[in-house]
Amino acid sequence: MTTRPRVYVTRRLPEAALAIVRQACELRLWDEEAIAVPRATLLREIADADGLLSLLTDRIDAGLLDAAPRLRAVATVAVGYDNVDVPALSARRVLLTNTPGVLTETTADLAWALMMAGARRLVEGQRLISAGQWTSWSPMFMVGQDVHGATLGIVGAGRIGSAVARRAQGFAMRIAYHNRRPAPELEAATGARHQPLDQLLAESDFIVVLVPLSAETRGMFGTREFALMKPDATFVNVSRGPVVDEAALYAALRAGRPGYAALDVFEREPIGADHPLLTLPNVIAVPHIGSATVATRTRMATVAATNLVAALTGQPVPHPVNPEAW
Ligand code: DGY
Repeated sequence: MTTRPRVYVTRRLPEAALAIVRQACELRLWDEEAIAVPRATLLREIADADGLLSLLTDRIDAGLLDAAPRLRAVATVAVGYDNVDVPALSARRVLLTNTPGVLTETTADLAWALMMAGARRLVEGQRLISAGQWTSWSPMFMVGQDVHGATLGIVGAGRIGSAVARRAQGFAMRIAYHNRRPAPELEAATGARHQPLDQLLAESDFIVVLVPLSAETRGMFGTREFALMKPDATFVNVSRGPVVDEAALYAALRAGRPGYAALDVFEREPIGADHPLLTLPNVIAVPHIGSATVATRTRMATVAATNLVAALTGQPVPHPVNPEAW
């Protein structure tokens, strides 16, 4: 009799994803929706696991691998995997998988929601009404910035950056992008121009950050970069918080350059109500919800479950991150 692979799941996921795992594996689950599994519990539960189905809130590092002698595969329910020490996994021939593609359009939608909300001061307007401060329609009351016809600068022109650019065509925007490599397909499809970062920052009305977090991108946006931006520019971050020096952003926004920041991600998440950026009127903050629609989060979970089961049952793995090390 063959024994079924054992899988530990670090959060309550949609039933469709759990069913995929249960069909082929023995499943144990941290059965909480809003509370991350405590590290000690994870280290205990992983001791006899062959596979781990995890989230971006779980730190997957050498310490975890030390506690998991049987581990063969880790599936993360995310496209980003900066929470994972990939070389440590590869050194032990543990496969990592992620969920690229399924969240592209949903995350691009949120980037646009943040751009529009910043440009037209939607959150400020709501706050003002709630505070009983709307006294009259006035000529220059709550004026913001036009999105149509403006210049959009995309930093990191991968799948999501390209999806953000495609949407900009409907708003007749000039599109610039900065990327490690030029993206000729994006240029052909949208007329986007590849620019050096400093030029993009200086010329864009909207700057949307979509780079993955890495040693090169950590702290990529600091005092120098904010000082290059236009005073009425809107800075949008939907990638990872640590690409931005938050103290520098706070000082820059107070000084009025850029004019606005709309942020989905933060240096340390979750942020509390006492976060300094929340004291500024020209900041919109949302709680890391780039991919947070019912359909997309469900698809991410099922894709991650499919990746993991494939890895543990010797099938071709749809989205391996480190296939060469396996
Ligand atoms: C990811 O997938 O990396 C996002 O940050 C969560 O959707």
